[in-house]
Amino acid sequence: MNHYSESNNPHTSYSAPIQDKHTIKVWDICVRFTHWVIAAGILANLAFTDDGSELHEYVGYVVVGLVVLRLIWGFIGTRYARFSNFFPTPARLKSHLKALSHHQIPQNNVNNVGHNPLAALMMFALWAVIIGLGITGYAMEAHIIADEDTLEDIHEVFASSLYLLVPLHVLSAILMSRLQKQNLIKSMITGNKQVVVSDLNTK
Ligand code: HEM
Ligand code: HEM
Repeated sequence: MNHYSESNNPHTSYSAPIQDKHTIKVWDICVRFTHWVIAAGILANLAFTDDGSELHEYVGYVVVGLVVLRLIWGFIGTRYARFSNFFPTPARLKSHLKALSHHQIPQNNVNNVGHNPLAALMMFALWAVIIGLGITGYAMEAHIIADEDTLEDIHEVFASSLYLLVPLHVLSAILMSRLQKQNLIKSMITGNKQVVVSDLNTK
């Protein structure tokens, strides 16, 4: 049947394609596992381990190792895990900010269901800070340069920036969940998201 023809089917509209919601797997196990272990490790090192203790260093190296794994996965992983899918290019950022400034929250479809460009900026900032913590932490321990006070200061600046970035990241995830009427935090656990699929895309 012609999808644009009138019919008795109540779901078929004369001028618009059918819009149906489907659940799809967006975040694979590697994205979800690395996310939650990295989050737990960062919170542990910020709040619970003794600064500079052996446990602090082990936890730090595990977290850095998982970030490296995730960065490799960004090149070879599944569709929505790949950087090519969500890299915050100026063009993507511009069109996202323009949509937000017009109070337009696009419904998720199979093309835009990954990280949005602003979220992606935050993710690269978080990954960079964690790598910075690993490098300065290692350099302190290995006595790579004599001026350990400077390394300690840089390590502390990186750590302090997380007190700003992490709450901002979590609040943004909660805000976007409300605006998109989709629980993004649950999606990071199950890996699933709901997308709108028009009948033109499905056939
Ligand atoms: C990746 C996550 C990490 C986080 C969130 C983190 C966080 C912190 C924080 C908040 C401090 C206290 C800073 C201060 O107030 O002076 C600290 C100190 C320290 N960290 Fe880390 N760290 C991490 C990784 C590492 C790693 C991988 C190492 C080393 C292998 C390391 C070695 C140290 C040392 C030696 C100190 C003590 C510096 C001092 O003498 O005061 N950290 N870290
Ligand atoms: C130290 C703590 C945290 C760090 C360093 C962190 C870092 C990240 C990173 C790097 C990503 C990108 C995931 C990827 O593509 O692999 C991400 C995504 C995400 N994080 Fe976190 N996260 C932290 C805590 C949390 C917490 C506590 C929550 C919620 C309660 C949360 C919710 C999310 C959500 C919902 C996404 C997906 C956003 C989207 O749909 O685009 N994160 N986080």
